[in-house]
Amino acid sequence: MRIDFPLKLSTSKVYIELMCAYKRKDGYYHKAKEEGYRSRAIYKLKQIDEKFYVFDQGDTVVDLGAAPGSWSEYAVERVGKDNVIAIDLVRMRDIEGVSIYQGDLTDDEVLNRLSIIAGEVDVVISDMAPDISGNYSMDHARSLYLAQRALKFCDVALKKGGHFVVKIFQGEDFKNFLEDVKSQFSFVKAHSPKASRESSSEMYIIGKGYKG
Ligand SMILES: C[S@@+](CC[C@H](N)C(=O)[O-])C[C@H]1O[C@@H](n2cnc3c(N)ncnc32)[C@H](O)[C@@H]1O
Repeated sequence: MRIDFPLKLSTSKVYIELMCAYKRKDGYYHKAKEEGYRSRAIYKLKQIDEKFYVFDQGDTVVDLGAAPGSWSEYAVERVGKDNVIAIDLVRMRDIEGVSIYQGDLTDDEVLNRLSIIAGEVDVVISDMAPDISGNYSMDHARSLYLAQRALKFCDVALKKGGHFVVKIFQGEDFKNFLEDVKSQFSFVKAHSPKASRESSSEMYIIGKGYKG
């Protein structure tokens, strides 16, 4: 037990130094700063949208796991003000034209209340991610659970014909989840946008044409 503490400390120090080095070298990080977005994640959604045509003006969008908020910033540009609802475990700063909630999507009451607030939704986007433990299987399992919760939200809120974008870390149950999405949408693709880091195991599943 006594050995654990300094080990954890040095591991997190190395992690922070690595992330700083990453950021210094990362073009998307600088681009997001220059263009005034809250996070480099904006470019993942933008690239997905440019390839799969996810949004239309006037769509109602729910952004799950939205903090710090760059996906919501992009969504509101694409669909217009007051059509985007964002939720995250952590508090988010306001974004003009976006309704922001704080809550845990793994809680059924939160999920159901959000569906009542949102009404009929055209597009559900989920970039929810667990805290990374570094254990590949555990991180995959936690990410899968969050992706399943996002799919459950589609069950209660997504319009027939609506679209879905969800992040999931790859692992042994990835294919099963992909099959679940395939059974509920007319068009489904797994995709890794260029803006995803090469070292990341994250994939995005895009589902279009919800069968209802
Ligand atoms: C990668 S970040 C999202 C980045 C965001 N798309 C953006 O563009 O700024 C993942 C987010 O998922 C959130 N999250 C994780 N578990 C969640 C849960 N159970 N309910 C709601 N949000 C959750 C985290 O708090 C974190 O802010």
